[in-house]
Amino acid sequence: MAEELNIIEGTKEEKYEALLKQIESVVADESDLIANMANLASMIHETFHFWWTGFYRVISDKELVLGPFQGPLACTRIKKGRGVCGTAWAEAKTQIVPDVDLFPGHIACSSASRSEIVVPLFDEKDDVFAVLDIDSAELNTFDETDKVYLEKIANVMKNV
Ligand code: SME
Repeated sequence: MAEELNIIEGTKEEKYEALLKQIESVVADESDLIANMANLASMIHETFHFWWTGFYRVISDKELVLGPFQGPLACTRIKKGRGVCGTAWAEAKTQIVPDVDLFPGHIACSSASRSEIVVPLFDEKDDVFAVLDIDSAELNTFDETDKVYLEKIANVMKNV
């Protein structure tokens, strides 16, 4: 694997395009879900320097548990329908939160987190098996471009 991974520059779209290619290549070479989640969290985090980037896995019909991540210590368990992550899982839909203080039930793992995006990961039966959660220390960080590309990234994980 290339040591140059993650030296990505350009506009947000250009960064995501390059990142997506790298992610496809990393996932094509490895079938272990946790290993791929660990590398993806690192690659996304290093490219955009977000506050927190990581995964929560569905471990029962009621609960998510913390998976591989980059950034500060985080909450370990989240109930279905709770917070942004639990909502993304329950609704099977990406959540963009421009201001976490305005999201009812937002779970503040860190008071530095100001905006957030959570993207569900679907298995081959189209059930949610994990969510990708990205937090920013600034308001209004995530838009439709992030949603489009992060959903493409989530889709790469479908075949793992
Ligand atoms: N804020 C999330 C919890 C996870 S942490 O931010 C890493 C939520 O409301 O689901």
